[in-house]
Amino acid sequence: MSQIMEMLVRRGFIWQSFEIYGGMAGFIDYAPLGNGLRRKIENLWREFFVVNERSVEIDTPTIGIEEVFIASGHAEGFTDVAIECSNCGKVFRADHYVKEKLNLEVDPTVEAVESVIDEFNLKCECGGSFKKPEHFNLMFETIIGPGKGKKGYLRPETAQGIFIAFKRLSDYFRDKLPFGVAQIGRAYRNEISPRQGVIRLREFNQAELEFFCHPNEKKHPSFERYANEVVTLVDKFDKEHRITLREAVERGIIAHELLAYFIGKTREFLLKAGIKDEGLRFRQHKDDERAHYAVDCWDAEVLLSYGWIEVVGIADRSDYDLSRHTQFGREELSIFVPFDEPIKVKKKKIIPNMTKLGPAFRDKAKKIAEELEKLEEAGREIKLVIDGEEVTITSDFFEIKEVEEEVYGERVIPHVIEPSFGLDRITYAVLEHSFETDYVDGEERRVLRLKRYLAPVQVAVLPLLSKEDFVSIAEEIASELRGNGIYTEVDVTGSIGRRYRRFDEIGTPFCITVDHQTFEDDTVTIRDRDTTSQVRVERGRIVETIKSLIFSERDIKEVGQVFRA
Ligand code: ATP
Ligand code: GLY
Repeated sequence: MSQIMEMLVRRGFIWQSFEIYGGMAGFIDYAPLGNGLRRKIENLWREFFVVNERSVEIDTPTIGIEEVFIASGHAEGFTDVAIECSNCGKVFRADHYVKEKLNLEVDPTVEAVESVIDEFNLKCECGGSFKKPEHFNLMFETIIGPGKGKKGYLRPETAQGIFIAFKRLSDYFRDKLPFGVAQIGRAYRNEISPRQGVIRLREFNQAELEFFCHPNEKKHPSFERYANEVVTLVDKFDKEHRITLREAVERGIIAHELLAYFIGKTREFLLKAGIKDEGLRFRQHKDDERAHYAVDCWDAEVLLSYGWIEVVGIADRSDYDLSRHTQFGREELSIFVPFDEPIKVKKKKIIPNMTKLGPAFRDKAKKIAEELEKLEEAGREIKLVIDGEEVTITSDFFEIKEVEEEVYGERVIPHVIEPSFGLDRITYAVLEHSFETDYVDGEERRVLRLKRYLAPVQVAVLPLLSKEDFVSIAEEIASELRGNGIYTEVDVTGSIGRRYRRFDEIGTPFCITVDHQTFEDDTVTIRDRDTTSQVRVERGRIVETIKSLIFSERDIKEVGQVFRA
């Protein structure tokens, strides 16, 4: 186990699920500290992608009926290629196994995998031969209701719940594009061989934003905010660029401003969460790598001990999902977009001749006239079905005239840009990027330099002695801080130095110590995790000082006279 994983398990960030039964790959428990951190990252995401966008958040079922995933293409296309050993029976995800053993990228198709196995005589780790590769669908199937019930799937992405509610959502936004709809929740994928610890889970947490826009207006009013940011891009030809987002759009490396805007915003969010800029890049999917619904996709990748790992996918899903649900469902998922000014259009119109239709078709004449008026073109003869009976209308029963009409708008199927975040990978990446060792007083110390506002325990109150009068003041201070929304713990066990180390290791940014001087002048010390510097503060100023240190990110030097004890 790596040093950081050992710490995360020991200190209560992440535990193996079903541990007392031997565990199961692809499932983790969020222990108290990990759960606190992930929830805070989730709230930071909400601040970025819901509160500060033209967006709303919804919450839809994690089980979907079969129809949804037939329409979305997942029932057919959400597969990876699996290879099974004919000797030991182990199953591997083919592209990952080929990469690991041969350092080769293989297309995720049965044919490509088969030909690599043949060409390199690739064997299982046990020495056995592989059976013929097969596509394996990653969705977990279930039956809804008793008996034969109805087939359903656990959702492999939160996005579909948004697409199928599109009609109601566009009403909610009064049919005004662009608008965003977010969903945060569990997603499930029956990954073939999840061997990368917390990176590849079978049950995980996504935070997705579906941003609906006019197909011809893939722009964002706040693009300028990120336009001059310099980012690292790796394009689909594996060429690396250090370039501003504006230049990337101008040179056609990023297809449009809306994708570039979300790359910029994703970067800002990840940096704010504690990812290091030098370990962050955006990589474009190659043409044969994209999901079945995407016309373009950029992954935010973070450099971890596992290599470069995707933590966010930013895809242009075009009108794929809304068109498919229109085709398979009962509603037309489009929007009427009014023009700024009505426009005049010349049109051919079919004008029924009632004086001829009446005598010839009697009680059917009115319906025939209505059907004729709906047509946009006509030959010499028109065949119509009226009350289940076919009738032929020749050109003496109508006239074709060119008319000018006012058109007030157009019906469009919006396009969707989707930033899709994996909260588990981000939480783990933040932990890896924050974990450091340094030397304090000649001793090695492990310190988690989490952003102060994200730390699961923000303040530890430490009575120097475990005597009742010290402890009761510590409890009073803790309760006042908690009443002000600050996550606070009191710890009385062990020497003060050991207690500081304990809280450094879990990323607690400030320790408050109640010491002998507290009884003389009603002051306490506040110690800063990163510099280990301390200041003395009067008890009446603790809450205000801690708030300014955590939320305004002030330097400890700004709140008092610094000393080290
Ligand atoms: P990968 O190529 O690593 O399998 P993906 O391309 O299938 O990932 P997406 O389908 O784009 O991933 O999913 C969006 C986000 O959801 C990813 O960026 C990732 O953070 C997260 N995610 C996807 N699959 C998993 C998983 N099995 N475990 C944890 N997080 C995941
Ligand atoms: N919604 C993107 C994905 O999960 O694949």
